[in-house]
Amino acid sequence: DATERGEHRHYMSKEIFEQPQAIANTLQGRLADDRILPEIFGSQATAQLADIESVSIVACGTSFHAGLVARYWMEAIAGIPCQVEVASEYRYRRHVVPKEALFVTISQSGETADTLAALRQAKDAGYATTLAICNVPESSLVRESDLVFLTHAGPEIGVASTKAFTTQLVALFLLTIALGRLKRLDAAEESKLVALLRSVPAKLKEVLALDSSIARLAEDFVDKQHTLFLGRGEQYPIAMEGALKLKEISYIHAEAYPAGELKHGPLALIDEQMPVVAVAPNNALLEKLKSNLEEVRARGGQLYVFADFQVPLDEGEGVTVIRLPETNDLIDPFVFTVPLQLLAYHVAVLKGTDVDQPRNLAKSVTVE
Ligand code: G6P
Repeated sequence: DATERGEHRHYMSKEIFEQPQAIANTLQGRLADDRILPEIFGSQATAQLADIESVSIVACGTSFHAGLVARYWMEAIAGIPCQVEVASEYRYRRHVVPKEALFVTISQSGETADTLAALRQAKDAGYATTLAICNVPESSLVRESDLVFLTHAGPEIGVASTKAFTTQLVALFLLTIALGRLKRLDAAEESKLVALLRSVPAKLKEVLALDSSIARLAEDFVDKQHTLFLGRGEQYPIAMEGALKLKEISYIHAEAYPAGELKHGPLALIDEQMPVVAVAPNNALLEKLKSNLEEVRARGGQLYVFADFQVPLDEGEGVTVIRLPETNDLIDPFVFTVPLQLLAYHVAVLKGTDVDQPRNLAKSVTVE
C-alpha cells in the first residue's frame, strides 16, 4: 500500500492533498459553460424537484457537518427552508413530514446503518422525493433512493473523512443551485455561482501550500488536553468539522461553539491551557467574531485565527494569525476546511497516533 500512498506517509494526508482533483472530478460532466446541466441528480430530477418546497437532510459524522453547511446555502441562496439532523436521532423520533419535501441523505459509504434506517423511515413516512449524495455507486443508500448524486472523490481509506466531505459540499452547492433555479435564481446569478464553484480547486491548491506552516503550528497543540473551535454562520459547521477531525485522530478533546454562544458557558473554560481556534473569513459577522475573540484574549486563552487576507487582525502576545487566500463568502467553507484538516493531521502525526485507523473508530458503521 506504500505505492498507493505515494509520497505521503498516511492515506489521510494523500486524501487531503487530493481534494482539488476530487472536486474537479465531482464537477466534471455536471456543468455547462455557466450553468449546471439538467438531470445531474437523475434522469427524472427536473420533474421530481419541480414542486419541492423544503429540504430535510439526514446524515452522520462528517457527512452531517456537510449537511449543516448546506442549510446556510439552501436558505440564503435558494430561499428554501432546510432542516438538518443526525440520523441516529431522526430515526427514533416521531416527525412531521413537510408538504412537498425533499429528503436528502449524505454518506461517504452509503452503508451507515442509521442513515439507511432514516431513509427507509422517511420513505414510509411519505416524503415526496429522496436523494442520496454518496461516494459509493453500488451502495444500499444509492439503490434505495429516488435520486442520486455521486461524489467522485475516489476511494477514501483514512477513517477520518476529508475529500469525501469537500466533494459532498460540491454536491450540496449544486443542489442549492438546482433548487434555487426553480425558485428565484436567475441565469446571471446561476452563472456567478457556477464560476465560484469552478474556482474552488485552485483556491484549495493555494491553501495546501500552507502545509508546512500549519505543521509548525501543530507543535503548540501536542501537549494540550482540550481545544475549542469557534466559528459563526456557515463557518460554525466548519469549526465543528475541525473539532471532530482533531478528536478523531489526535485524541485531544475538542469542541466547537458558534462564537456568539461563548458567553453562555464555554468562556468559563478559558485559561492559558486552552487553545482556541477560530475561523474568521471577511464576512458580515467578522466584527462580532472579533469581539468574541477579545473576550478569549482577556481571559488568557491562546488564540489561533484562520483569517483571509482582507481581515484586519494583528498578531501579538497570545494571538497567532494564519492567512488564507481571499475568497467569496459562499465558498469560504471549502477554503477554511482544509487548514483545519491539516492541523488535526499534523497534531496526530506529532503525537504518534494511528492516523489512518484511530482507536475505537470504523470507516463505516454498518451496525447500530
Ligand atoms: C464513521 C466514520 C466517519 C463518517 C461517519 C459517517 O463514523 O468514521 O468518518 O463521517 O461514519 O459515514 P458515512 O459513510 O455515512 O459518510
